[in-house]
Amino acid sequence: MQVKSFEEYHQAYQQSVEQPEQFWENIANNFQWRKKWDKVLEWNFKEPKVEWFKGAKLNITENCLDRHLENNADTPAIIWEPNDPTEDHRVLTYRQLHDKVCQFANVLKNNGAKKGDRICIYMPMVPELAIAVLACARIGAVHSVVFGGFSAQSIADRIKDAECNIIVTADGSYRGTKEVPLKSVIDDALVQCPSIKRVIVLTRSHTPVSMIKGRDVWWEDEIKKVETQGNPECEPEEMDAEDMLFILYTSGSTGKPKGVVHTCGGYMVYTGYTFSNAFQYQPGEIYFCTADIGWITGHSYIAYGPLSQGATVVMFEGIPTWPNAGRFWDIVEKFKVNILYTAPTAIRSLMSFGDDVIKGKDLSSLRKLGSVGEPINEEAWHWFDEKIGHGKCPIVDTWWQTETGGFMISPIANVTPTKPGYATLPLPGVQPVLVDENGKEIEGNGVSGNLCIKFPWPGMLRTTYGDHERCRQTYFAAYENLYFTGDGCLRDEEGYYRITGRVDDVLNVSGHRIGTAEVENAINMHSSVVESAVVGYPHDIKGQGVYAFVVSPEKHGDEELTRKDIIMTVSRIIGPIAKPDKIQFVSGLPKTRSGKIMRRILRKIAEGDTSNLGDTSTLLDPAVVDEIKAGAM
Ligand code: WTA
Repeated sequence: MQVKSFEEYHQAYQQSVEQPEQFWENIANNFQWRKKWDKVLEWNFKEPKVEWFKGAKLNITENCLDRHLENNADTPAIIWEPNDPTEDHRVLTYRQLHDKVCQFANVLKNNGAKKGDRICIYMPMVPELAIAVLACARIGAVHSVVFGGFSAQSIADRIKDAECNIIVTADGSYRGTKEVPLKSVIDDALVQCPSIKRVIVLTRSHTPVSMIKGRDVWWEDEIKKVETQGNPECEPEEMDAEDMLFILYTSGSTGKPKGVVHTCGGYMVYTGYTFSNAFQYQPGEIYFCTADIGWITGHSYIAYGPLSQGATVVMFEGIPTWPNAGRFWDIVEKFKVNILYTAPTAIRSLMSFGDDVIKGKDLSSLRKLGSVGEPINEEAWHWFDEKIGHGKCPIVDTWWQTETGGFMISPIANVTPTKPGYATLPLPGVQPVLVDENGKEIEGNGVSGNLCIKFPWPGMLRTTYGDHERCRQTYFAAYENLYFTGDGCLRDEEGYYRITGRVDDVLNVSGHRIGTAEVENAINMHSSVVESAVVGYPHDIKGQGVYAFVVSPEKHGDEELTRKDIIMTVSRIIGPIAKPDKIQFVSGLPKTRSGKIMRRILRKIAEGDTSNLGDTSTLLDPAVVDEIKAGAM
């Protein structure tokens, strides 16, 4: 599946455009199917309807686990590094991971789970998280993983939307010096979720938790039951290629987060292919992805992609800055990591600690570096290249999204010449186009526009759970017959792509997607807030910070306390990841006569660029702009 030269890349790319079905059929033949497809692709972007490998039968875990047992049973699948470096790390070989997945799959079955059920997973970054995910896939249940930084309210919203009947969680999780009481958060969420019949709780932090008879059970007890039943195997459920594999919620420019739906066949082929090709993964290489499984990067490039390729994955529970900012480099040294895949926000944060924390660390095992989540600024790119890669590791800057399932525009390691700040060229099978405001394709090089994709790829989302119309509206209605990414993009003279950031009301804070509308709704729930407007502003480490303009004429207590109350409210409603960095109290928001908030003006003020605010004459009350300008933080 790997192209070995730039020439081969161009050939593969051309074939993928001219004969896409043949191209993907060849790739798909590298996987294990119970039955092959009747048709490679059927699609239209109008409804939208996209079906890959229709009629094929498979189970993705057979590809991620069973098929490696014959020759690679003893190859480490997961090397797990705990939060606390003095605690022992764990290694699970493919044989061991297989057995544990089967065991837990049987636990799920014992607890009433069946094919098609939705199962919510809210867990720390421990191997059992990967095991739970794969166990769902094993029995054909649909997992909905919720990142550990979301609040009870956010979890409840997601559980209700997907009508989950089981939750898998843990007593608590560790993040640096902090302990997050996961089960207690779940208990708060469950007050609103009658659909949940069973909560399976893993012991991790030994935090005291409430356990409700008939509903809550311990992971370890359930495993013991399975052991005494003496059924170690769990036959993989036979799935149709287009059966649902998982739901993952993500933020958009309007309303509540949407449940992005991925299906079994296409997602497996796409994540496996892109992982193998972009990183040029070689057997035996140690691959470390610093993401959390709660995000798409963890789904596609800790769990499914690498495991389907028989790779060895390092999974890390902690944070990059604890016990000190050398933690990543210690892990690289400890496990002789060959491929390191991380995010610009982590790179910038580690950069800020200076070079002392890298001194003396042996990074010589590194061969390839990767970046994901947001545009990587040139300074961070060069630091990563020089200080970490010692100038000899290609930087694979992968542009993609929850919705795309896998890498879309990305260099291929040691094949595509890289360029700082550029995701470079589309991978074979990906047909990007830039369009102007009216949806007209902008051809040629040295141009920029809104990034769209004009042909389906196997890893793309199929729908948004429970609301297909929303999927159409969000991604396929802006421009006819195109998938709209929400990103702005530049194509330089050489045809290289550089993602310039979101063009919609979605913020990218430390690589996390946050909808401004969501944050506004949360702020507005605070009892003394009348209304608010949230925009992003450039932040040295986070990429973007959250700037809230808040109308709150009658504050409770002093201004500073009200600020803290508002932050607390956002934490409760969404989670700590969405907390505003700055809150400016204003007497009113700049609105047009029709009542529309002029975000353009607020964005400029938040960016500290007030020299030219453009035309403000259409505002209902132009004076409010001067007041906001004067009070800017
Ligand atoms: C941004 C994360 C520039 C982009 C995999 C996209 C990037 C959003 C890059 C998706 C990159 C991701 N360069 N921008 N290499 N990778 N983005 O769904 O704005 O959490 O639309 O998926 O992150 O975020 P999501």
